[in-house]
Amino acid sequence: MQVLIFDDKKAVAENAATLLQKLILAKSNANIGLATGSTPIDLYKQLVSLYKNQQISFAQVNTFNLDEYYDIDENNSNSYRYFMNSQLFDHIDIDKNNTYLPTCNAKQDPRKQGEHFEQQIAALGGLDLQLLGIGGNGHIGFNEPSSSFASRTRIKSLTEQTVSDNSRMFSADEQQPKMAMTMGIATIMDAKYVLLIATGKNKAQAVNAMVNGPLSASCPASILQMHKNVIVMIDSDAASLLANKDYFTWVSQQNHTINEIYGQFPDL
Ligand code: GLP
Repeated sequence: MQVLIFDDKKAVAENAATLLQKLILAKSNANIGLATGSTPIDLYKQLVSLYKNQQISFAQVNTFNLDEYYDIDENNSNSYRYFMNSQLFDHIDIDKNNTYLPTCNAKQDPRKQGEHFEQQIAALGGLDLQLLGIGGNGHIGFNEPSSSFASRTRIKSLTEQTVSDNSRMFSADEQQPKMAMTMGIATIMDAKYVLLIATGKNKAQAVNAMVNGPLSASCPASILQMHKNVIVMIDSDAASLLANKDYFTWVSQQNHTINEIYGQFPDL
């Protein structure tokens, strides 16, 4: 796990955008797993500006979102489809037919829909990189604490904490979904690279549990310790509980030199 600590959330967004730009330059038809939430919004703004400055093209890119609320209309402003269109897809040259979300409405069988999403990922050759945020309770996607490390895309009931954390997005008269479809932990672990971004003091505890363990289903993100290529980009607030900050900073300087010489994505 490479842990890169930046001064503020702006630097996290800029550096995450640069990494995705390098990925697309290395593989123009990359399969990229995307995330929602407030954390990636600044990253998506950076990607839009790289596109507008003709420094990146998404024309051949495929995207697979981590999760989507169960039985939500895509025109509902709280759906993750709406979020992705308005934050990113509407402003870049991506073909929306190449943007996938794990959807399921009340008439569909969630198990079949989960399998279908897994097949869509496999049919295009698997994920090159999965972008992740992290929940205050250590969840990734909507894999809440106690999720199986072997899980695949499926329907999940959200914890009270997650429902409460996400309630700020919903107005009082809106019904907030309590269930969602999410990529499984094993699906995420199959990605060749993982980029996790986290900012703010409210993520410090989850970040420390993810980085310093123990490996436990009570902190789903801790499984990332077992992944070969994980890059964690965090601001100093999210890093505030890490005991080994100086070590991570020193390591990242050495890795930077190696990556400059040998390339950032040897396993693509
Ligand atoms: C949501 C999403 C996660 C996201 C997390 C953190 O529940 N399902 O993918 O990482 O919350 O969101 P935020 O970035 O808003 O803190």
